[in-house]
Amino acid sequence: MTDPRARHQQLVQEIEAHRHAYYELDAPTVSDSAYDSLERELRELEAQWPELATPESPTQTVGGAVAQGFASVKHRERMMSLDNAFSLEDVEAWLARVEKDAGEQSVVCEPKIDGLSISLTYEDGVLVRGVTRGDGTTGEDVTANVLTIAGLPRVLAGDRVPAVVEVRGEVYLPVAAFEELNARLLEDGKAPYANPRNTAAGSLRQKDAAVTATRPLAVTTYALGALEWGATEPHPAIGSQHGVYEVLASWGLPVSEHARVVRGVEEVAGYLRELEDKRHSLIHEIDGAVLKVDDRGVQGALGSTSRAPRWAIAYKFPPEEVHTTLEDIRVDVGRTGRVTPYGVMTPVLVAGSTVTFATLHNAHEVKRKGVLIGDTVVLRKAGDVIPEIVGPVVAARTGAEREWTMPAECPSCGTRLAEQKEGDKDLRCPNSEGCPAQIVDRIAFIGSRGAFDVEVLGEKAAAALVESGVLANEAGLFSLTEADLTRVPLFTYEVDEKLTRKQVEAGIEGRKAGDLSANGQKLLDNLAGARSQPLWRVLVSLSIRHVGPTASRALAAAFGSMDAIRSASEDQLAAVEGVGPVIAESVLQWFTVPWHVEIVERWAEAGVRMEDERDESIARTLEGLTIVATGSLEGFTRDSVKEAIISRGGKAAGSVSKNSDYVVIGANAGSKAAKAESLGVPMLSEAQFVRLLAEGPAGLD
Ligand code: IVH
Repeated sequence: MTDPRARHQQLVQEIEAHRHAYYELDAPTVSDSAYDSLERELRELEAQWPELATPESPTQTVGGAVAQGFASVKHRERMMSLDNAFSLEDVEAWLARVEKDAGEQSVVCEPKIDGLSISLTYEDGVLVRGVTRGDGTTGEDVTANVLTIAGLPRVLAGDRVPAVVEVRGEVYLPVAAFEELNARLLEDGKAPYANPRNTAAGSLRQKDAAVTATRPLAVTTYALGALEWGATEPHPAIGSQHGVYEVLASWGLPVSEHARVVRGVEEVAGYLRELEDKRHSLIHEIDGAVLKVDDRGVQGALGSTSRAPRWAIAYKFPPEEVHTTLEDIRVDVGRTGRVTPYGVMTPVLVAGSTVTFATLHNAHEVKRKGVLIGDTVVLRKAGDVIPEIVGPVVAARTGAEREWTMPAECPSCGTRLAEQKEGDKDLRCPNSEGCPAQIVDRIAFIGSRGAFDVEVLGEKAAAALVESGVLANEAGLFSLTEADLTRVPLFTYEVDEKLTRKQVEAGIEGRKAGDLSANGQKLLDNLAGARSQPLWRVLVSLSIRHVGPTASRALAAAFGSMDAIRSASEDQLAAVEGVGPVIAESVLQWFTVPWHVEIVERWAEAGVRMEDERDESIARTLEGLTIVATGSLEGFTRDSVKEAIISRGGKAAGSVSKNSDYVVIGANAGSKAAKAESLGVPMLSEAQFVRLLAEGPAGLD
């Protein structure tokens, strides 16, 4: 076992270095959770070896100091830190300690704002000083900077204002302001800030208050330090923590709107659950909740250790930002040929799941983030959001890191990568016909839920079908036979089935190695079932650029069959609502490529349905007619009007042109009615439209 004294010294040194980076340089070198673990280890070590817990130990002190260039100010009353709870059990243990000393207590629960603490001194109601926490006893004078914070009153409101009060609170940068600031920096080609907390800390601790003034900092107040009422009658509400918030608010100071008084562990747990749920909809970042005994008399009786009160505790949420090593950057070739770099990291637990990969989008992003292979990186996964590499921890570099360069050739087929059009950020492999990575991805995509929804057809199956040579591309997918699949090891049995003697005697023939497996049979069955999927799913499955589910549904609804789409003009395609010129051109282009057409033809030969089913009970009164409906109709929705037209053999167009046969005018019809009028296209009322549906043009006579 390592010598506890040596380990203690090592932990103290590390913690102090991290505190220096966090509080004085505003540039932390470890994640909050890694720091918390070090502090926890130190605490546990000192519990075992109490002689190590000297007054200088970080367990007994508040992090931070007065940095050079700031005047130091002594707080009238010390500023404390908080002890942490990392689980409900920790919270329960704290509640039990409180109860043992003071009986069951009501507790105020409130957000733990991820900013930096400030002490605001008001003398006779006038803001005279703003001071950072520093080491708890002495802090940095940031008065000039504090005065730039909008929403912080210079003068307290009301007539119950004390002679002197130190108001404690948290300065933060609202998430929206942080994002705006970063967007501007990116636009100017500058490196973005890592997170709102460090940006807020850096902004408040500026030597030049004019710089601070450009950052929209905000403050929430949550505690009182020194308090002298002077000639003013003390406010009676001050006896409870929730009363303190009422008083602070009555003075015009910003307080949290999420504070709540609760009782018992169940209610505390309920509050914590709710707060975690709305964690990302608050205007500032939070890293947990603070629980405070409500009765201030009891607070006084419970007292404090040298660094934290016994009457309060911070409950920390599981971390959303962690540090890990970026082991490599690789590229992925997607179904459309887009080549995407992604980071491969030492697996790390963040916000409840283990993360190994994170997309880096494109080479520009890699450059912008400034990450090197081998870097310690900040990895962030906020709630349900996709994990993101925020950036490198530059201070942790050893010199062994190396730069990554985007490959010039496709890693799958060796074709030279290119921009699709000038100025594109993405590079693509232009070999869509022959690039194995693209073919595999397209086939897997056909199986995906949003396309043909073939359960067995995922990435692995697609790769097996291509690698075995059974499929050259997606054209042969629906013609796959049992014989084909038995050539794919993934879809066959590996060994002969073991039979009992009885089965052998009964003449039962077991499955042999190389026979089609149950999974292989399932693939064949699923593909057979998929042949009668609606037309829009067929369209989605073709991987035509810009043609996703929305455009596919619109095209299918407007034209009803693959043939009709193929023979439509660019104008006719573009006229469909939800399609437009870009998609129209893409569709038209797609059909000019012979191997694309072959896919459609071979699918059709294999029995894939290329038109939507007609309801034979509906008379085809609108055959050959193009109809536009505009404005709101009483008896139809936007979708049902299209459906009514298409099911009767007509085309539902989204915009009026000389090709339109009729324009149906509903309430509040706008420019389309005017256009119909100018082009001389016949306009119909809803009643006339209903007659047209029933009887065709003859019904209008
Ligand atoms: S009360 C004596 N309430 O968390 C108690 N602190 O980790 C003083 N913090 O130094 C703190 N939100 O900077 C309190 N609602 C809140 C808080 C809060 C954030 C910060 C504060 C404190 C640190 C301790």
